[in-house]
Amino acid sequence: MDDVVSRASALRVSAQEAASCERCALAEGRTQVVFGSGDPDADLFLVGEAPGFHEDRSGAPLVGQAGELLDRLLASIGLARADVYLANVLKCRPLRSRDPLPQEIASCAPHLLRQIELVRPRVVASLGNVATKLLSGRELGITRVHGRARELVCGGERLVLYPLYHPAAALYTPAMLRELEQDFARIPTLLGAEAPDAAAAPPRAPAAAEPVEAELVQLGLF
Ligand code: URA
Repeated sequence: MDDVVSRASALRVSAQEAASCERCALAEGRTQVVFGSGDPDADLFLVGEAPGFHEDRSGAPLVGQAGELLDRLLASIGLARADVYLANVLKCRPLRSRDPLPQEIASCAPHLLRQIELVRPRVVASLGNVATKLLSGRELGITRVHGRARELVCGGERLVLYPLYHPAAALYTPAMLRELEQDFARIPTLLGAEAPDAAAAPPRAPAAAEPVEAELVQLGLF
């Protein structure tokens, strides 16, 4: 318990530090830093790409339509936003919501790694290409790797990296949405719990374990 309290407190300190971050030029155009939200002791940590217009205004990650879809997907496995931790690779909005630049990702990644280290989740679900490539340290696109769990070592802890399609991409592509729903249905198994309605979950082969030594600080990003 003490450990939970001290990690939550360290996370608040990290959020305060990030609030005045000027490691890259995105600091100039932001309304505020969108650090992250949710349970500081969550078993499931979801990583999106970057704040958009609405997130920059509200200060919370993944609001809007993609966020509503994420809430529905979480509900399908018996979870609410407050049960998980949610953060983006970038904490500040790229203007006109363009793709993150490599230098912005490299500057911002230490914030995310510290968050993962402090929350100490069992599963990190990377939403889309940007988060997946950063956390896997590989250039493989999300179409190839979604739904394939890998081992990740972060802050000395072993956890599971689980790449998923980004909800924003799945919003307008029914086939992608179906795959995202199927991939989501396996999260309770990865978390070590039974799905609320396991019988209804589509049958699927167990996750292909691909152990990798992916200590993020050794990726040469920082
Ligand atoms: N908004 C976010 O906060 N993250 C995304 O990845 C997309 C939109």
